[in-house]
Amino acid sequence: MAQENLEFIEIANTEELPVNERLFIEYEGEPIVILNLAGTLYAIGDVCTHDSGPLGDGEVLGAEIICPRHGARFDLHSGKATRAPAFQDIPSYPVKIEKGKIFLGIKK
Ligand code: FES
Repeated sequence: MAQENLEFIEIANTEELPVNERLFIEYEGEPIVILNLAGTLYAIGDVCTHDSGPLGDGEVLGAEIICPRHGARFDLHSGKATRAPAFQDIPSYPVKIEKGKIFLGIKK
C-alpha cells in the first residue's frame, strides 16, 4: 500500500492503548482492532473471513492472530489468511504514533 494513497486519521491517545492491550474501534462502519504487542502496534479488520466472527480477541501466536471461533489464522502485518478454514485475507492498516496520538492509515 503506497504511502501517498493513504490518509492518516487520529484514533486515540497512546495512553488509551497500553502495552499488550487491544483497542476496538469502528471506522466508516468497519470494525478494526489495534493491538499493542510489546510496544509495536498492528491494526487489522475485526471480522474473520471464514464466518464473520469477531477476531480481535483471538490469541496471538508469533506474528499471527488466531480466530477464537474455528481457529483460522491471519498474519498481523499483512492480513493474509494463513490457515483454514479462512482463505480470504482481512484488511490490515498501517499505524503510526505522533505527538502522543495514534494514527491509522486508511486508503483514500
Ligand atoms: S469465524 Fe473465524 S474461523 Fe470461523
